[in-house]
Amino acid sequence: MAIPQHTIDQILDRVDIVDLISQRVKLKKTGRTYSGCCPFHQEKTPSFHVYRDKAYYHCFGCQANGNAIRFLMDLDNRNFIDVIKDLAQQTGIELPKDDFSAKKATYQRKITETTTIAPSTDAIITSNEITDAPSLSVDPFADFYAMEPMPGDDYAALSANDATTEEHSLYDLLEQVTLYYQKQLSAAPHAQNYFHNRALNENTITTWRLGYAPADWNHLEKAFPLDIEGLKLVGLIRENDSGKNFDLLRDRVIFPIRDSKGRVVGFGGRALNDEIKPKYINSPDSEVFHKNQLLYGLYEGRKNKSIDWLMVEGYMDVIALHQAGITGAVATLGTASNTDHLNILFKQNPRLTLAFDGDAAGQKAAWRTLEIALPLLNDGRELRFFILPDQHDPDSLIRQLGLEQFQQLLNKAPLLSDYLFAQLTKRYDISHPEGKGMVMAELRQLTNTLPNGSYKYLLSQSFRERLGFGRKKFDSSTQDKDLSFDRIDRNHLLVALLMHYPLLFPHFETLRAFIPSQSNTPIRQLLDILDKIYDTLPKDIELSRYFALGAAANLHGKILPILNQVDIEDLQINHPEELDKHAQSLFVSMKIYYLKLKLKHPASVKEAHNLKKQLNDASRSLTELQISEP
Ligand code: UTP
Ligand code: MN
Repeated sequence: MAIPQHTIDQILDRVDIVDLISQRVKLKKTGRTYSGCCPFHQEKTPSFHVYRDKAYYHCFGCQANGNAIRFLMDLDNRNFIDVIKDLAQQTGIELPKDDFSAKKATYQRKITETTTIAPSTDAIITSNEITDAPSLSVDPFADFYAMEPMPGDDYAALSANDATTEEHSLYDLLEQVTLYYQKQLSAAPHAQNYFHNRALNENTITTWRLGYAPADWNHLEKAFPLDIEGLKLVGLIRENDSGKNFDLLRDRVIFPIRDSKGRVVGFGGRALNDEIKPKYINSPDSEVFHKNQLLYGLYEGRKNKSIDWLMVEGYMDVIALHQAGITGAVATLGTASNTDHLNILFKQNPRLTLAFDGDAAGQKAAWRTLEIALPLLNDGRELRFFILPDQHDPDSLIRQLGLEQFQQLLNKAPLLSDYLFAQLTKRYDISHPEGKGMVMAELRQLTNTLPNGSYKYLLSQSFRERLGFGRKKFDSSTQDKDLSFDRIDRNHLLVALLMHYPLLFPHFETLRAFIPSQSNTPIRQLLDILDKIYDTLPKDIELSRYFALGAAANLHGKILPILNQVDIEDLQINHPEELDKHAQSLFVSMKIYYLKLKLKHPASVKEAHNLKKQLNDASRSLTELQISEP
């Protein structure tokens, strides 16, 4: 039974993970989180934490973690379906019926051929030429409407015989069709030439499983006479108004589209010549093909263990970039990029670059993407905008420049904050206070919907500085001074950082689990205080500072000397994107410090092993954070 993701999300939304876990584990409220002894390993001191708002648990001793479903599966050794049925019942959410969902990725395949198909090839080819003529089909769907029955192809007799069908997988069918298109390519020199003219080599053609759909209007029907129903479900065979079948993709080179597991789920077909409109036809969404949640090249990029990801516009861009060595290139499937696409990529790496054409359409797309991306920029995420030189797309650019120069340009792509600043200051004359005011007003409008966190604040702060009001400007010769934390006591830096930006607390929330409970340092006390007051902090960052200072009144004697010693402005945080990153690397380096401390007196051999593993992971992520420093 396949359960739709949105149903699973709905169930998880309704389950209170604290209630659920407290039925099995004794939990104690510690500030905003709950903790107890981990049910997945033996321990005496609690390192198992449950986060209600994140609907998530994590054990810092054995690394067990997950949501409510994972908890029940692992604790009771139950399977997914079993657990989800249980939770659905508890939360009153209805699951799709078994047979309904089982049907989803299947179709009724005929067991034997009951009709013969003998369309007149001549008539079909003639009509194909007419319909694909540029003047006739500018409307992307013109092909479909324009279809009239051909003389000679009598499909009226073609009717499924229910008694002679069996259930068959759409994925298997799509695989067969891919093989078929690939085979057709080897028999179509003009299609091979097309790829060669676009500088694709044989290896590329094979790895991307490129193919060719013949010109015949009914080639799929002839090749797969038993699978018409399935081919219709995936949209490769269409029916015209008079009920006659025809192939969606004809005389086009074929780009099979794979899902994240590598299964072919759809196809893009490109005309062999630029006069033919539409240039690309993509198979429609189906039970197995959801364009909004797919990225062309993601499967291949992951297979290549890509680290840096670059979102481009077209299939050919992706393939050309991969061929040149940029294996993290992906593209949407002819649709605008949406939040899901960005989130998929942010999961691969919190640093992401988007490429846009240099023309007006590209700028417009960049702006639209900026608007949808802004609310996603927390947790140390970084988004760069790579605006291509005029008249180029990534495919043409990499061919002209070669990998090295392309990479150099790419590395210079501005961060979202810089891109935004450049765009807004282009629109207004900022030599006057009025213009500056307009820039700030536009910024406010854009960030209106953002959560009141450090990113929003810092974005406006950095704009104010760049426009010449607000805090003092720094001498650029002192840049990079103290950007590494090594020269300042980490503990002091953390105290100072949190007093200035209490809203960064979530970065350090889990650090509390690593600090030995007997140690009563200002850090631990400050983290405990923030843990209690975080939800009530005022939205305004200035106010939140005073609020935090007030709440930590009993610590003033310890905090003030630290604040005097560490000048937070020395950190030179010029880009809002950087603050989160600094917070993150500070968190990791402190975690390492405390893990080492713990490792001196491990409770058991198993714990020692786990601590070492965590230490390795933390060291690795620290290296990643630092290497990526520009
Ligand atoms: P572009 O028109 O920018 O072309 O389409 P391209 O990728 O540079 O194509 P080539 O290099 O001429 O082959 C970008 C993407 O938009 C979608 C496709 O996914 C394409 O890869 N598209 C484009 C369509 O879906 N339909 C079209 O008619 C054109
Ligand atoms: Mn192109």
